[in-house]
Amino acid sequence: MEPADLSALQEQALEELDRARTLAELEAVRVKYLGRKGLLPAIMEKLGDLPPAERPIVGRSANAFKENFAQRLNVCREQLERNRGGVVPKRAWDPTLPGLWRGMGVRHPIAQIMEETIQIFDRLGFTIADGPDLETEWHNFDALNTPADHPSRDTQDTFWLTDTLLLRTQTSPVQIRVMESRPPPVRIIAPGRCYRRDTTDATHSANFHQIEGLYVDRNVSLADLKGDLTYFARALMGSEVKVRFRPHFFPFTEPSVEYDFSCHVCGGKGCRVCKNSGWIEISGAGMVDPKVFHNVGYDPEQWTGYAFGMGVERLAMIKFGIDDIRLLYDNDARFLEQFA
Ligand code: PHE
Repeated sequence: MEPADLSALQEQALEELDRARTLAELEAVRVKYLGRKGLLPAIMEKLGDLPPAERPIVGRSANAFKENFAQRLNVCREQLERNRGGVVPKRAWDPTLPGLWRGMGVRHPIAQIMEETIQIFDRLGFTIADGPDLETEWHNFDALNTPADHPSRDTQDTFWLTDTLLLRTQTSPVQIRVMESRPPPVRIIAPGRCYRRDTTDATHSANFHQIEGLYVDRNVSLADLKGDLTYFARALMGSEVKVRFRPHFFPFTEPSVEYDFSCHVCGGKGCRVCKNSGWIEISGAGMVDPKVFHNVGYDPEQWTGYAFGMGVERLAMIKFGIDDIRLLYDNDARFLEQFA
């Protein structure tokens, strides 16, 4: 008996099981192959006569045969028992049975926030722009008025890949790419991933998301920035949200602000997410620095603009009341399906 013959025999046996129309017929097939005087025990008996090298091979095939046979036997038996008195299907496997429900995925909260933000700014006339995660030092720093010796580079601990290539620490390089590629006016938002050598804790991650905004035209002012961002805050969070602007510094905006939303997790009372302040820092922003315009070839005498860069995780955390940023990256289905 060769292994190939065994597998042909197995095919034949399984087919006979499938063809059985009653439990009695099924039992007859079982006896024919596995019974005391059945075909398989006969093969097993003769195993000793084989050359020693072949014994384990044929032995293994015979065992597989036995297992497959037993499995199919069970399926067929269950089917026949279920159908007793009814119509017996032609095959043990019934293709008309409903499939297993595997559940539908839901959009990740980060993706939901990005989508909603894009929709809100779309109503203000913004279109989407995009840039690479792997950036040049020029786009991520120099063109943004952040030369190598600038102290603000230290606050953005960078993953450097080569001397001049890095994983972008912010979405602001997309501002540069857009302005380098077309003349003003410009009104874009750019959602995307950012990377910083941050130690992970409840509110920080080395890989996070920002949404950059840039609006350049004649006579754009700080009042436009405040108005548009307040509109955005209310559209996203509901009219009860409070927004506060604080003076700040960024090399590529002047004046610069940071703006906060009132904390939705605790309602402003103070909690782990807002570090007991009642406010959550959402974004840096400001009026585009004339030096940046100069770097991309825009005339700062003619054009003014505002820019902002918001933290998407922060928005998701306060919108959905998530008190630990790490939950957003664990991909635990029990967590994620709450955002259906
Ligand atoms: N890129 C800044 C940051 O990541 C945020 C910012 C964007 C500030 C645009 C001003 C203007 O902190």
